[in-house]
Amino acid sequence: MNFPEVDLVRIVAVELDLECSMKRIAFMLVAVAAVAGIATFTASASRHGDGDAAPIFGVKIPAGYRDWRLISVAHEAGNLNDLRAILGNDIAIKAYREEKLPFPDGTILARLAWSYVPSEENNKAFGREQSFVAGPPTTVQFMVKDSKRYAATGGWWFAQFKDGKPADEAVHKSCFACHEPAKARDFVFTHYAR
Ligand code: HEC
Repeated sequence: MNFPEVDLVRIVAVELDLECSMKRIAFMLVAVAAVAGIATFTASASRHGDGDAAPIFGVKIPAGYRDWRLISVAHEAGNLNDLRAILGNDIAIKAYREEKLPFPDGTILARLAWSYVPSEENNKAFGREQSFVAGPPTTVQFMVKDSKRYAATGGWWFAQFKDGKPADEAVHKSCFACHEPAKARDFVFTHYAR
């Protein structure tokens, strides 16, 4: 027996299926584009980071900065008495490794600091008083390069936070003046620790 209708039904079914998977592919492409868009937006927008924006420059804490790569470490004695780590985003690390000055737009440098405390636990292991480690965090500072804006401060945006809260305007007014001695190195003091 021959039922041509059956073939017709099958053809329609195959066409519907094809149309359906094309729609699915189109939908997936749109979804991928949307995710990529979000990623680009987050990467480019340090002013759209976490928490409140710092005064004057409007910088927010850049998302994910704690996982950035290490440029160097430092210890300040005196009133600060801290241990610090200077980290950089990918643009910063690339510029440092290629010894590129001035730093390109999009560079972000993060200076983390912790109080400098003796470690009893480590000293016991060493059998004498010699160990100092990072205690509670003090402040975190950022320098964000955007040469088109804030040319007056060398193209850098400065920001300082403590416990996620930005410091006041007076503190932010002091940043650039003190970084001026490092003008020959694009206002950045820290050298890359090899
Ligand atoms: C009294 C001078 C002084 C002031 C004020 C100052 N800085 Fe700095 N800053 C330094 C010096 C010196 C270093 C390098 C040594 C160190 O890390 O302790 C430094 C390091 C940094 C670094 C690491 C990159 C680099 O240049 O080495 C960042 C980021 C930074 N400061 C941000 C800020 C911000 C933001 C402010 C204002 C809220 C600020 N600084 C105010 C002197 C200063």
